[in-house]
This record gives sequence, C-alpha cells and structure tokens, in this order.
Amino acid sequence: MAHPLRIAPSLLAADFAHLADEIRSVEAAGADWLHLDVMDGHFVPNLTFGPPVVAAMNRVATLPLDVHLMITDPWQYADAFLDAGADLLTFHVEVEEGGDVAALLRHIRARGAKAGLSVQPDTPVERLAPYVAELDLVLVMSVFAGFGGQKFMPEVLPKVGRLRELGFAGEVSMDGGIGPGTIAQSRAAGTNVFVAGTAVFGAADRTSRIAELREHAAAGASA
Ligand code: DX5
Ligand code: ZN
Repeated sequence: MAHPLRIAPSLLAADFAHLADEIRSVEAAGADWLHLDVMDGHFVPNLTFGPPVVAAMNRVATLPLDVHLMITDPWQYADAFLDAGADLLTFHVEVEEGGDVAALLRHIRARGAKAGLSVQPDTPVERLAPYVAELDLVLVMSVFAGFGGQKFMPEVLPKVGRLRELGFAGEVSMDGGIGPGTIAQSRAAGTNVFVAGTAVFGAADRTSRIAELREHAAAGASA
C-alpha cells in the first residue's frame, strides 16, 4: 500500500502560448506526472481545453498524463481523452446522476488507463464507497474546482484516512493550494500524489521548487 511520492505540476498554471516549452521545463525540473485540468464551463464556471490540446501535449510529453475532468458528462468524452493519450483519467463523483459511474471506471481500465474519481471539498468520501473496487486513484480536492491559485483547505485532510477505512488501497492525490507550506500536512494525512500549479509554474527555479516540495513532503511523512 506504500505508493511512491509523486509531484504532478498542473499545466493550468503554465503559459498556454508555450505549452511544449512548459512541458519540457517541468519534465526537466523533476516532475513525475503532468496534471491536465479539463473544464467544461458547466460543472465548473471556467473553460480550459479539450482532447485536441491533450493530444498535442501528448506528442511532446514523456511523463504520464494525469487528466482531471471537471466536466458534467465524462461518459460522452472519456474515449476522446483516452484516444488523446490520457494515462490516468479522473472524473467527479458529483456527476454520478448522469450515468453509470462503475461502468465508466471499468471502461477506462479496459482501455488500459488508470481510473480515478475526485471529490469536491464539500463532498464526503463515503460517496466513493460503491466504487472502491473499480478505482486506481482518488483525487481529493483541497480547493473548490475551477481555478488555480486558491487557498488550501486543511479541513479536507481527514478524508484520506476515511478513504483507507473504506478499504481503498490505491493512490491518493490532493489538488489545490499545494505548495511548500501545505504539502507536509497533506503527506502526513496519507496523500502520495501532489498536484501543484502555481507553486511549480510560478517559481523562478522550478527544479529547486520541485526538490523543495519533495523535501517538505518527506518531512510530513516522518512527522
Ligand atoms: C483546480 C485544479 C487544480 C489547480 C491547482 O480546479 O483542479 O489542478 O490547477 O492549482 P494551484 O496549485 O494553483 O492551486
Ligand atoms: Zn486538477
């Protein structure tokens, strides 16, 4: 159950006019996964990019693409993102009235990708209980989905322990407001994948920042 510590820079904070350079930059700086935030202007009040841009990033990237769908209808678009090169595909449990969640998770896995579900800060992780057997990853939002640069919400931290009590043994990712000042507490709570947009892309030296994140996470693990 000990999953590797992974730093996943969120391209939401990258310069969209230079995506190829931004991807190469964080790959050279020591990132583990590339986190891609897909927003539909409906599930969240913001729009980002769709499958063609993910496919373009996939042509440049060598690291796994961790695609976070903040969209109301993942059933309609999952295949397009898998075709585009998503290695992990995560959608939100809050859309569950729109279709068969377990069937979509199984479909993602059948296509050779890792399947994930995410929970907003005000959604209890107990909503994931029916799907634990179909999940490779749970993405715990530590801000309300929609925008980068928001303040970390420490009240979500106990969710990681509750997920383990539900029997979930896969990878746990935390997303929103993760930086040198918040990563240790997230690691201490049991998170192993750390999504960081502003903290990585906003750093003058991205290599040092990713190293700093790893050091603070390690301190949290041994705390
Ligand atoms: C928010 C996104 C996050 C966001 C994180 O909806 O899911 O991935 O980009 O950005 P920071 O690290 O700036 O909070
Ligand atoms: Zn995200």
